[in-house]
Amino acid sequence: MTAACVIGWPVAHSRSPLIHGYWLRTYAVAGSYVRRAVPPEGLDAFLRGMRAEGLAGCNVTLPHKEGALRAAAEATAAARAVGAANTLWFEAGRLIADNTDGVGFLAHVRAQLPHFPRPDRPVSVLGAGGAARAIIHALLAEGAPHISVFNRTRARAEQVALHFGARVSAHAWEERAAHSRGAGALINATSLGMQGSAPLDLDVAALPADCVVADIVYVPLATPLLAAARTRGLATIDGLGMLMHQAVPGFQRWFGVRPQVTEELRSLLVADIGAR
Ligand code: ATR
Repeated sequence: MTAACVIGWPVAHSRSPLIHGYWLRTYAVAGSYVRRAVPPEGLDAFLRGMRAEGLAGCNVTLPHKEGALRAAAEATAAARAVGAANTLWFEAGRLIADNTDGVGFLAHVRAQLPHFPRPDRPVSVLGAGGAARAIIHALLAEGAPHISVFNRTRARAEQVALHFGARVSAHAWEERAAHSRGAGALINATSLGMQGSAPLDLDVAALPADCVVADIVYVPLATPLLAAARTRGLATIDGLGMLMHQAVPGFQRWFGVRPQVTEELRSLLVADIGAR
């Protein structure tokens, strides 16, 4: 029986067991997937002992994403670009680290918009943390011609632009609406709009009529940004897709089946979000 888990501190909030548990049942895989609370000082010992424990790998959530990348013997280009890992597995006994947030985000958008990102229009990304970097890395790999990054702390946006090169530019947070008048897509990769956080203040009237608006926040599912975009008639992408799709590569590595993201899985997550 193959075993995997999600590690974090705390880890009780993680919805990964719901996602992987659904796939284990759906594909009748003889496997298990549980939460493991690993304190910060226990990360290295956990990762060293993971194979001996019989674990095929794990997902990684806060605060271990950077530490997991450092501890791995090898990392994918995505994990290196983000500077953080969310998925670990073994190859020939060596620990490999990946970051699947970017491909997860893109897989979800593409399920609705097969030609995303448009080759002829820039993308606006709000935020400069790990989620923003993951999305930017994936957008560049998929041919986005230009990405404008807006962040409250401008220095972080500058660092991101420096890291990714000429197709990424950094801008002041205050310019986010005015500078997005020609954007093919606008993506919120900050925590603004999340339950308990301030809403994202953005005048969607400034966006072109064919701009796609995406949010990585999924509690609530209909963030104020997405609600305003819908009222304006813009196409929208909610944050649940990235949560579901980022889990696909890990499940495939550990359990040998490439799982499908389904409406049934989405309903389970929506019910769980409503219940908590
Ligand atoms: P993650 O790795 O999950 O993306 P993070 O590194 O903490 O998380 O990044 C959170 C993002 O939300 C950052 O871009 C942050 O802006 P700063 O770099 O200026 O901190 C952004 N953010 C959080 N609260 C914000 C607020 N009140 N206004 C504007 N941006 C905010």
